[in-house]
Amino acid sequence: MRKILIIGIGAGNPDHMTVEAIEALNRADVLFIPDKGEEKAALRALRETICRRFIRKPGYRTVPVAIPKRAEAGDNYRGVVDDWHERIAAGYRALFEAELHEGQNGALLVWGDPALYDSTLRIIERVAASGLALDWQVYPGISSVQVLAARHRIPLNTIGGPILVTTGRRLAAGFPADQDSVVVMLDGEQAFAAINPQDIDIWWGAYLGTPDEILMAGPLAEITAEIARVRAQARARHGWIMDTYLLRRRPA
Ligand SMILES: C[S@@+](CC[C@H](N)C(=O)[O-])C[C@H]1O[C@@H](n2cnc3c(N)ncnc32)[C@H](O)[C@@H]1O
Repeated sequence: MRKILIIGIGAGNPDHMTVEAIEALNRADVLFIPDKGEEKAALRALRETICRRFIRKPGYRTVPVAIPKRAEAGDNYRGVVDDWHERIAAGYRALFEAELHEGQNGALLVWGDPALYDSTLRIIERVAASGLALDWQVYPGISSVQVLAARHRIPLNTIGGPILVTTGRRLAAGFPADQDSVVVMLDGEQAFAAINPQDIDIWWGAYLGTPDEILMAGPLAEITAEIARVRAQARARHGWIMDTYLLRRRPA
C-alpha cells in the first residue's frame, strides 16, 4: 500500500519543526510540492529551507503538484469548494499512481498545522474514497495561532472561557455576541476595521515566525487605523501578507 505522510511544517519559522515531523520527512521517498500560486514566495522558501536543513539523505525526489484554480465562489461557496477539492483529489490520485510505488511513502508539507484551515486532510480522504489503496498519517505542526499567542505572551482564552477560531469573512457579520475571545484567520478584507470596536482589544500579527514578523496590540478603537496602515504598507512592500489576530471583549 502507498502511504502519505502529512507533515505540519510550522507557519514560517523552520525552528518550529517538531522532531517527529523531521523524522517523518526523512522517511519520505517522494515529496509532493503543491503550486498554489498565492502566498507562494513564503511557502516555497520555507519548504526549501526545511528540506535542505532537515533531510539527511541526499538527492530526495520532489514532484510538483499543479493545483487547479478555484471558480469564483459567488453565493454557492460550499458547492464551488467541493468541486475544486474533487479536481485536486483527482490530480493527487493520478500523481500518486504515477510517482509512488506500492510500499513507498509520499510526503505533503502543510503550512502550520494540517488540522487548522487547511484542506489537505479532506482531500486525501477523497483520494482514498476514490478507490486508491492508501494509508496516511498526520504530524501536527505549530500553527500561526500558537505563534501569535506566544509572541504576544498571552493565553488565547480567558479563565475557563471558550475560544472561537473563525475567518475574516465570518467576522465581517459582527463580533459574535456569545464569545469573548475570537481568533481570526484568512482575513483579506481587514474585517476587524468593520466591526463595532467598543470594549474590544486586538492582538495582531503578520508574517509570524518569519524575519519580517510584525506585532501590534491595543484597544481596537484606538489602533484599527494604524494596523490598517501598517498592513497595507507591508503588503505593498512584500507583495503578499498573512496575518492573524485575537479579538477579546473586555469584561463589563
Ligand atoms: C490557509 S490558512 C492556513 C493556516 C495554517 N494551517 C496554520 O496552522 O496556521 C492561512 C491563514 O493562516 C494565517 N497564517 C498562516 N501563516 C501565518 C503567519 N506566518 N503569520 C500570520 N498569519 C498566518 C493567516 O490568517 C492566513 O490567512
